[in-house]
Amino acid sequence: MTKSVFDVSGKVALVTGASSGFGAHFASILAGYGARVVVAARREDRLEALAGTIAENGGEALAVPLDVTDADSVAAAFDAAEKAYGVVDILANNAGVADTKMAVDIDEESWDWVVDTNLKGVWLVAREAGTRMIAAGKSGSIVNTASILGLRVALAVSSYSASKAAVIQLTRSLALEWSRKNIRVNALCPGYFVTEINAPYFATEKGRRYLQRTPAQRSGELHELTAPFMLLASDAGSFVNGVALPVDGAHSIGNM
Ligand SMILES: NC(=O)c1ccc[n+]([C@@H]2O[C@H](COP(=O)([O-])OP(=O)(O)OC[C@H]3O[C@@H](n4cnc5c(N)ncnc54)[C@H](OP(=O)(O)O)[C@@H]3O)[C@@H](O)[C@H]2O)c1
Repeated sequence: MTKSVFDVSGKVALVTGASSGFGAHFASILAGYGARVVVAARREDRLEALAGTIAENGGEALAVPLDVTDADSVAAAFDAAEKAYGVVDILANNAGVADTKMAVDIDEESWDWVVDTNLKGVWLVAREAGTRMIAAGKSGSIVNTASILGLRVALAVSSYSASKAAVIQLTRSLALEWSRKNIRVNALCPGYFVTEINAPYFATEKGRRYLQRTPAQRSGELHELTAPFMLLASDAGSFVNGVALPVDGAHSIGNM
């Protein structure tokens, strides 16, 4: 049988934000393409359920608690991953939060929550993964989940947009620094997909009208992230490094 171009068998993957939405999807597809997957987030009951589903489908997964804003928690998650499966080859650096508020209404607590999770968290987890890959002399692939809001702006998401733009620059910086170590670092920039982060908004009439005004006139479906994500995560994208890839039905180049 011909191997899939996205085959990742023999690899170890760690997915942050795996307790819902994109992260749960990324973990399932990585397992489906053959990786042993460490699923990480704070809600352990959901991680255990996901690991169980992956195992039922013939894959291998380990649930590990992780708070991406806490360096000790990040180190402990990678220790657990290494103990179970070995050094992580593929990182889906995906955990993120949003707080939808106009700029004048954002207080320090809200700012710190968004920026500490989306930017500091992505940095802590990437640094841990990269340090361990380099120490082990292993090549690797890191996929940071940014957003089209890292490329463009919209009303009431300034902290989120700033954090995601910074993730894109961090992605480029790490790609440059680690390219000689054969570690690729790319960013996925999804448009709108209905997940727990935005479901309440897209359930409203205002949310539905917003989607109608986008070029595709709809939200994305999770399966439409599969190939773009696997391109970046697997050796199929071996010469793709330091990019910010929009997956958004042309939303980010929308009519002005
Ligand atoms: N949905 C979209 O339209 C869209 C578009 C562009 C980009 N994104 C980005 O895609 C990523 C995934 O979002 P999603 O849409 O899948 O939303 P989601 O369903 O709300 O998932 C967010 C995930 O992040 C985890 N998380 C939050 N804070 C964390 C922390 N401190 N430590 C560890 N994990 C943490 C959550 O797990 P726990 O609460 O269990 O820790 C959850 O698994 C985010 O970075 C988001 O900004 C989403």
